[in-house]
Amino acid sequence: MAEVFHIKGLGGEKKLSGQLPVYGAKNAALKILAAAPLFADELRITNVPDILDIRSLTTLLDSQGIATSRPSPREIVCSPAKTLNSVLDTEISKRLRASIVLTGPLLARTGKVSFPHPGGCVIGERSIDMFLEAYEKMGATVTHERGAYIISAPKGLSGADLFFHVPSVTGTETIMMTAVYADGITRIYNAAMEPEIAHLAEFLNACGARIKGAGTSTIEISGTTDLLRTDGASYTTPPDRIETGSFLILAALAGDQLTVTGVNPDEVRSLLSVFEILSIPFVVEGDRITVSGSAPEISQKRLVVKTAGYPGFPTDLQAPLVVLLTQTRGEALVFETIFEGRLAYTEELERMGADVVLMDPHRVLVKGPKPLRGRDLESPDLRAGLAFLLAATIAKGDSVLHNVENIDRGYERIEDRLANVGLSISRETLGT
Ligand code: EPZ
Repeated sequence: MAEVFHIKGLGGEKKLSGQLPVYGAKNAALKILAAAPLFADELRITNVPDILDIRSLTTLLDSQGIATSRPSPREIVCSPAKTLNSVLDTEISKRLRASIVLTGPLLARTGKVSFPHPGGCVIGERSIDMFLEAYEKMGATVTHERGAYIISAPKGLSGADLFFHVPSVTGTETIMMTAVYADGITRIYNAAMEPEIAHLAEFLNACGARIKGAGTSTIEISGTTDLLRTDGASYTTPPDRIETGSFLILAALAGDQLTVTGVNPDEVRSLLSVFEILSIPFVVEGDRITVSGSAPEISQKRLVVKTAGYPGFPTDLQAPLVVLLTQTRGEALVFETIFEGRLAYTEELERMGADVVLMDPHRVLVKGPKPLRGRDLESPDLRAGLAFLLAATIAKGDSVLHNVENIDRGYERIEDRLANVGLSISRETLGT
């Protein structure tokens, strides 16, 4: 049954206070789960957020022959597979982008894998050409039949020199893991540098992989024939830097001394540098960041923010940032460089009263401050959905946010956490 959030807007007052804890990173936990076929023994993952995308991936792992269990709410254990099924479930793969990451470890282990075009948030074309090219260069054949990609490498994979025309995050993670079992050395040039990649490589190395350079733009992987072994060690999911950034923006918009806890401040530097430009006061103390309410202002003629791979400004914080800019005095141009369909949500902000002009599919001009009005809203994807939640929080009047499953994909019980800091928000099931 469809669920919605009812949000009572603060109407411009800064009232939220207290502590907002950040949970484990979705985009780190998904990747270590996808690494499960590489292990000979039990893989234990802790600090896993209890979100829909993780549930989808564990269901997928179960159907591939890797039994997963949850001994406690934020802990997942993957048992080593006796036999691996290398045909990915179509229905789950079509709703989860991270399903593509599993294709690499499955191919490396079994010499074959077939899967549909992966789904996930509808934010652009989201091609997989670099994955397919890399598999071919590593010695596999790639065919496409009846809606499925079929990758086959009966004699195993060989190391290769690969150049990514775009530094893809999941591409880097997938090929890095595939190369762990290829014969010889693989080098990935123009690799993505997101911190989750280095974190994943560090754990794989501790379990027997030989990966150098993860977290930089050139990664070198020396293949091994032995399966990885945890020998009882567990992977601890790092804090979610996108959740951290989303909560910091909430604090800037609606907080009266709101502290975001359990964070890695180094990983949100790009956002904090924008806060400095907007004169938003914040204090970093260890793994906590406190933001005080303020009237943000752009002192220069026009602020330009371009999304970029890490350590640049993350595309996943672009929509929340635009909401903040609607409340900031001055003019800003936000340039979404990673995805071509990630600004459609701005139309809805305009209906709420924001002064936003979509210049082309990649650029939006925002002038503020403009008060927002509460509305019925449809969450179009995970991060734009969160942006609507922020907009509804500061708006005058009530809002009803539909499609909350889009938010549940990446944020665990967000309504409980926001209610704890003073927001009037409830989850309701339509028709009850
Ligand atoms: C990851 O997506 C994240 N998803 C996204 O998080 C995030 O927005 C994105 O990286 C960028 O940081 C996961 O980690 C599961 P890309 P990914 O491949 O890997 C093009 C969220 O809300 N490209 O780095 O799919 C592609 O079209 C989400 O948590 C090719 O051209 O993104 C895009 O323009 C949404 N060919 C660019 O690269 C390829 O073969 C970067 O995308 C692969 C990608």
